[in-house]
Amino acid sequence: MEIREAISSKTASIGDELVEIRRTIHANPELGFEEFETARLISGVLERLGIPCRDKVGKTGVVGVIEGSSGGPTLAIRADMDCLPVQEQTGLPFASKNPGKMHACGHDVHTTILLGVAMVLSGMRDSLAGRVKLIFQPNEEGLIGAEAMIADGVLENPAIDMCLGFHNWPSLEAGKIGYHPDICFASSDAFDLTITGVSGHAAHPHLAIDTVTAAGYFITQLQTLVSREISPVHPAVVSIGKIDGGTARNILPPQVTLQGTVRTQNAAAKKHIEAAMVRLLEGLKTGMRIDYALDYTPGVPVLRNDRAVLQRVLASARETLGEDKVEDLQEGSMGSEDFAFFTERFPGAHLRIGGKIAGLDTALHRSNFDCNELAIPTGVRVVSRAALDLLSPA
Ligand code: NI
Repeated sequence: MEIREAISSKTASIGDELVEIRRTIHANPELGFEEFETARLISGVLERLGIPCRDKVGKTGVVGVIEGSSGGPTLAIRADMDCLPVQEQTGLPFASKNPGKMHACGHDVHTTILLGVAMVLSGMRDSLAGRVKLIFQPNEEGLIGAEAMIADGVLENPAIDMCLGFHNWPSLEAGKIGYHPDICFASSDAFDLTITGVSGHAAHPHLAIDTVTAAGYFITQLQTLVSREISPVHPAVVSIGKIDGGTARNILPPQVTLQGTVRTQNAAAKKHIEAAMVRLLEGLKTGMRIDYALDYTPGVPVLRNDRAVLQRVLASARETLGEDKVEDLQEGSMGSEDFAFFTERFPGAHLRIGGKIAGLDTALHRSNFDCNELAIPTGVRVVSRAALDLLSPA
């Protein structure tokens, strides 16, 4: 049987089981690093398929390896498993049974797709040159699950040559695959700043060193970094989301603390902003007599598709679904995704899987979120085919 038909018929035969798995995971959502039941369900399926697997990788992650019948490279395919602290308001019969927790980002669908891929590929080992490493990752929402798995050895035994990731996309028609040609997600760094001065009576500012006014200058100057120092063709965002200082209207507080995030799609811009923040603060130290402590924490790197891998994956998707079902989604997002810790190390690609439900006005992380279940067979077929194609000699 032709490969495409073999994948399609196998996917069709497991369709009901996959929907059942998705609804079970959806009804029992677990937050990052608490995915105990989800991990147990995954391990159970992999064991039943005869796929050797290891659990508790990076706390609650699961890794399985499908060995092909002939030697070749190793492709890692990653799905995330965690839910969000959202109270579900969908009214679905399989809605969350855990108050305040919901699969509002569709990671239940991602986990199900990767289990479907395991079912398909474990029955096609003869067509598999090399091996597929199935990575079920915890805590994507906190952007710390990938690093936890890496620290726990997920990149070794066997070593990885290429990687593939995916996310459902509620604005993309179900049955379609979308992609960003180059950068999918931005880097994300965090900073904590404490500005220190000398407290005093608000009526006698000359006897104090005013941290509130200094913080105001800093916030304004910070916004000039993106507009005046970063090339307009390189997207960058600097935002302060939390500011804290003071106790009363007539007291100048001894310190003000600020917390913010820096997002860029360009390594040089990221470096520039970090250095420029220090320069601005040194200026305020001299000019306004304050002192400061800046804690700048690099986070998730940029997620960039490898051109060659992406082209091969897109060819597989077109072959599977048809030319008109594969959509260029143009520029990526300033959000972040910790699959970037894999693509930073190995050539890889990240796909969007259409999850649109006609008539439902929703978005990721919203309490009425739902994903079209047509995304499941679509994802299983495309990812399975891409795995076989990527592992075959070009
Ligand atoms: Ni997500």
